Amino acid sequence: MLTIGIVGAGLRGRMFASALTGQPGVEVVGFAEPSKRVAETTGTETGLPVYAGHLDLLSEQNPDAVIVATPDFAHHDVAVDLANAGRHLLIEKPLATTLDEARSITAAVQAGGARCLVGFENRWNPHVVRAASTVQSGSLGAPITASAVLSNSYFVPTQMLSWAALSSPAWFLMPHTVDLLTVLTGQTPVSVMATGSRGVLAARGVDTWDVIHAMLTFDGGATATLSSAWVLPDAGDGIVDFRFGFIGTMGSISADLSHQGLTVVSDRLRSEWPLGGRIGPVDVGPAAWMAQHFARGLIDGTDLGPGVEHGLLVTETICAIERSLATGRSVTIEELAA
Ligand SMILES: NC(=O)c1ccc[n+]([C@@H]2O[C@H](COP(=O)([O-])OP(=O)(O)OC[C@H]3O[C@@H](n4cnc5c(N)ncnc54)[C@H](O)[C@@H]3O)[C@@H](O)[C@H]2O)c1
Repeated sequence: MLTIGIVGAGLRGRMFASALTGQPGVEVVGFAEPSKRVAETTGTETGLPVYAGHLDLLSEQNPDAVIVATPDFAHHDVAVDLANAGRHLLIEKPLATTLDEARSITAAVQAGGARCLVGFENRWNPHVVRAASTVQSGSLGAPITASAVLSNSYFVPTQMLSWAALSSPAWFLMPHTVDLLTVLTGQTPVSVMATGSRGVLAARGVDTWDVIHAMLTFDGGATATLSSAWVLPDAGDGIVDFRFGFIGTMGSISADLSHQGLTVVSDRLRSEWPLGGRIGPVDVGPAAWMAQHFARGLIDGTDLGPGVEHGLLVTETICAIERSLATGRSVTIEELAA
């Protein structure tokens, strides 16, 4: 039996527990969660033990693997302690929000010797999988350029995330799209030029970026644009705007995954995410499939998906975006290392 602990019993931690419950050969053994209110609700809802800290979870339950689902800025200490203890890890994106922390987690995972998946869930999104395999087949020719928009309505930074001021559209959303562009182009980002604005969310009490745009250049010569905003109106028909495109020398792809073909609006409900939910006894959707794949990969010894080195590359790219925002100039990934 593969035993899995979950650190952070928020939206994602509880979703992962549900996705893994009932999976053959897998047992979720408990949570770590510092908020007493969240811990109590989680214990009541799941019937699982909830410890105040990840070290208690480790010593009391001794799980084989741990999912790190703490806020963006709080992955480091948990991930390093558990990597040092030799536990397999699924670390939510972004790996970390500073270069030092991302490097420190990477070093700990490499030294600890256990396996690690960073939670780029679009790898389990059927539309993305199909787009990537079409590009990889060569039928669209060589990559020329790509684009991705991933934005949220005000609901996400002002109501859903209590820690939005400590994150940004770059840290919360762009890990997904930076990863997506590496998958679509098959290339690695080398330089970034970014612009953006802030002030509107700050006036609503969340002092972070309203919108960020970034232009990326890749090592194979492809280029890409990325945009992420946290200021879409809540009166729209969903909290997510997610579109991407690819242009190759022999063809192109365009995708609008905002509603994935099903839009539901009522007086009380604005948002529907059809690629998720439950079919029969099993949770489905990219994030559930990612967690199930992680567990299956650990049991079978098969590939887990994007590892800690890829998580580091994505964090480097977003650090370059931040530095470009701060300096107003183009920033190379290489110069970050200096
Ligand atoms: N919500 C989403 O749609 C979504 C999607 C993809 C990825 N993610 C990522 O998943 C991670 C978690 O996001 P979330 O939406 O579940 O946030 P959340 O705020 O709902 O939950 C995070 C939980 O972690 C707890 N926590 C904080 N510090 C901790 C620590 N040191 N040890 C244990 N628990 C701690 C908090 O009290 C909170 O209950 C983030 O990195 C986020 O970017 C979220």
